Amino acid sequence: MSGLDNIREMMRRDKVFDFVEQKRLPFTGRRVVIPGEIDATHGPILYLENISVSFDGFKALNDLTLYINDGELRCIIGPNGAGKTTMMDVITGKTRPDSGSAYFGQTMDLTRMSEYEIAHAGIGRKFQKPTIFPQHTIFENLELAMAADKHVWPTLFAKINAEQYERINEVANTIGLTDLLYETAAQLSHGQKQWLEIGMLLMQNPRVLLVDEPVAGMTHQEMDKTAELLKSLAGKHSVVVVEHDMDFVRSIASTVTVLHEGSVLAEGTMDEVQNNPKVIEVYLGE
Ligand SMILES: Nc1ncnc2c1ncn2[C@@H]1O[C@H](COP(=O)(O)OP(=O)(O)OP(=O)(O)O)[C@@H](O)[C@H]1O
Ligand SMILES: [Mg+2]
Repeated sequence: MSGLDNIREMMRRDKVFDFVEQKRLPFTGRRVVIPGEIDATHGPILYLENISVSFDGFKALNDLTLYINDGELRCIIGPNGAGKTTMMDVITGKTRPDSGSAYFGQTMDLTRMSEYEIAHAGIGRKFQKPTIFPQHTIFENLELAMAADKHVWPTLFAKINAEQYERINEVANTIGLTDLLYETAAQLSHGQKQWLEIGMLLMQNPRVLLVDEPVAGMTHQEMDKTAELLKSLAGKHSVVVVEHDMDFVRSIASTVTVLHEGSVLAEGTMDEVQNNPKVIEVYLGE
């Protein structure tokens, strides 16, 4: 055996040892990275622990600890500048924390993964401005999203199989755009474009969906439909929604987390946080 083989063998044994140990241990905070495996057996799917992020000395996140359970629909609220978007940036690998840890399931260390790896591992993010392809139909947009995931851009629109066709129709139905499947995306209303973007994320079957201010600029009717859509996604996906519109938050949330100055100020049901004096003082009483 060459020296290199020896090292390889040692690394392999070490990995197996870690893996076995990881499986045997109850939750102790010790986790090992096993690429491709999302272990939510302890309940949470996302673990943010003691995260701090500074921009030029200003602490956008300050010792933030937050857990998201597998399959839950969580709303994050808080005043402007509270760190909500920065928190999503940390989860998606766009911003690296100065300290603290961020895990996807028990085993995936998000602080060591690239943005691409995180997206590929199953964390999808919807930005405020939809990134749809306006000149293409709804069907094609969903097809493009599927292709983007499978690295088959060059063979686009070649031929999709029956299963893929079925999946596109299923997602179109979920986002309420079945009747418009062969219309171009440019013709959609603002709300419909937002739903299409959510549909494009769904094509990649994410385990976690992060949605930043989804109902900004929507009509009341569109807001109601968005609430139904996000509620319908919970269970199969974990959905984290940042939103300022309190009526909307009330209509969807089971658990609400209030961020303030980069850390958690309160957490509970909508009624609990709305009646929390600290929350009223810094946020709701504005
Ligand atoms: N890239 C950056 N460089 C410098 N400062 C930043 C950067 N990103 C965020 N900040 C600052 O960090 C703080 C938190 O910003 P963040 O966008 O996370 O707040 P937010 O809770 O999403 O607010 P809003 O409700 O207005 O969207 C703000 O003071 C912001 O100006
Ligand atoms: Mg924000």
